[in-house]
Amino acid sequence: MSPSSVFFLLILGSMVDTKTSSGKGSLLYPYGPHQGDETNPKHDDGTSEAISLSVPFTFYGKTYQTVFVNNNGVISFDGPVRQYTPDPFPLVDGHPFVAPYWADVDNVLGGDILYRQTTNPVLLEDISQDITQYFPQNPFTATWALVVTWDHVAYYGSTSEKGNTFQAVLTTDSKMFYIIFNYWDIQWTTGAASDGDAETGLGGTPAHAGFNSGDDTNFYNIPGSQTDAIINITTTSNVKVPGRWVFRVDDFQVTGVDPPQLNNNCWL
Ligand SMILES: *[C@@H]1O[C@H](CO)[C@@H](O)[C@H](O)[C@H]1NC(C)=O
Repeated sequence: MSPSSVFFLLILGSMVDTKTSSGKGSLLYPYGPHQGDETNPKHDDGTSEAISLSVPFTFYGKTYQTVFVNNNGVISFDGPVRQYTPDPFPLVDGHPFVAPYWADVDNVLGGDILYRQTTNPVLLEDISQDITQYFPQNPFTATWALVVTWDHVAYYGSTSEKGNTFQAVLTTDSKMFYIIFNYWDIQWTTGAASDGDAETGLGGTPAHAGFNSGDDTNFYNIPGSQTDAIINITTTSNVKVPGRWVFRVDDFQVTGVDPPQLNNNCWL
């Protein structure tokens, strides 16, 4: 092989690498067993064990020490979630949870759900830069993150090879709390037990994305949730990056309140 063709292959190799999960070309932060991720057991409607957070996470004014990573596209705070057909938020049962893509995943039929808590400085720097770019009024230096990735996960009842790949990241500097959703490849919206088509993974009651605080005023539904259009969530964004949604999730009422009453006290 001539030196020039070796050089060409090296270039080609580095181009191909940008399309992998750890490459700069991907919306996803690095993940996988080689990153130290834990993998959920293979069970339809399964969940992780209770994950003890090394840094407590504040979500809509309440602080949590434990999360569950649920196969069906949900991260929950006060117990596992096995429900496979999504409900719109606010949920009547008051479960606080984060739903990057709530739908009927079956990891027995394909794909993996992976997670890790990290203080890796290179990754935290990447996350900090991204969040500071989207929220420039509050410079952010992450000190911890939980990275959860659904990697090419199949749907219940699937007779196809379809898989969805998406990620949710919880991160904090212990003052501000953010959640990032990254949608890389969404090929199906609905499991067969939610009236979806077994061949296409479409129709029926499609996936739901958003946040539920547990009360009936603090919730958010990403546009397209529970409609066929959720298949296109890889093209939508609230931060001008197609496929990425980023939210500050600690209590705005506490952090943002301007107390004019305090000024009145000066006159007493
Ligand atoms: C998804 O986006 C494509 C391209 O804009 C559009 O043609 C299609 O109708 C959309 N699908 C749904 C179900 O909204």
